[in-house]
Amino acid sequence: MKIFDLKKDVKACLLNLKTNHKTIGFVPTMGALHQGHLSLIKKAKQKNDVVVVSIFVNPTQFDNAEDLKKYPKTLENDIKLLKSVACDVLFHPTVAEIYAANISSEKFNFDGLEHQMEGKFRDGHFNGVGTIVKTLFEIITPNKAYFGEKDFQQLQIIKKMVKKNNLPVKIKGCAIFREADGLAMSSRNTRLTEDYRNAAPFIYKILKKAKKKFGTENATKITAWVTKKFKEHPLLELEYFTIAEEKTLETAIKKEKNKKYRAFIAVFAGRIRLIDNIRLK
Ligand code: PAF
Repeated sequence: MKIFDLKKDVKACLLNLKTNHKTIGFVPTMGALHQGHLSLIKKAKQKNDVVVVSIFVNPTQFDNAEDLKKYPKTLENDIKLLKSVACDVLFHPTVAEIYAANISSEKFNFDGLEHQMEGKFRDGHFNGVGTIVKTLFEIITPNKAYFGEKDFQQLQIIKKMVKKNNLPVKIKGCAIFREADGLAMSSRNTRLTEDYRNAAPFIYKILKKAKKKFGTENATKITAWVTKKFKEHPLLELEYFTIAEEKTLETAIKKEKNKKYRAFIAVFAGRIRLIDNIRLK
């Protein structure tokens, strides 16, 4: 595996591959890799000649200084994992290499997607995500890029950015990877204390029950039920639960036949914020 930390070096390597008509699959990450990331890389390996992974903890997408500071950093182990799935190229730049002296975001218009759910609670988050993903696409120029559906809103926003800016990359969403007890895999899970880790699978249990209820009950009633369940929970604190339409991410008022819906949730397990979602039939 080749490892680069400078834009000019990774660009030169990829230009050479592109000249030889190799297709590039790209998996952007913030490191602290887990099986969920590896599943994206494996998918990218199947569909492309070369796979590039980036590890970059992007400061502009954090609205919380403590979360940024404490974001897990496990580079040595990440490199081992990347080698185990035969990743071809790792791009691991510094903040200065990406932002120079100006650590700020471009302002995007994602046609309202950015105002729903995470956008209501994480100020400037999606401008930060848009800025870094666009910058990385410019550097890597991938044919396809892979994102997990755990961050479903992020996935829809990136698709929107690609469409609006006519970027020549196909965005591929990949199913959520879960621990055996149902907890959605996330780099933040490693920061959970034992008690919170044991409590966290409750989130997916509730999502599965909400999915069942969606067959017979309306979104308002289900939301009230979920809210009550978390009020009764001794450890987990609900930030939001929303049933929304997949395309617009607008809260569902009334079910419509030809629309697809998902339930989205954000929960605090102590100081650690966990998100998850489930497709509803
Ligand atoms: O999902 C993530 O890990 C990050 O938001 C991403 C897409 C790598 C951008 O920093």
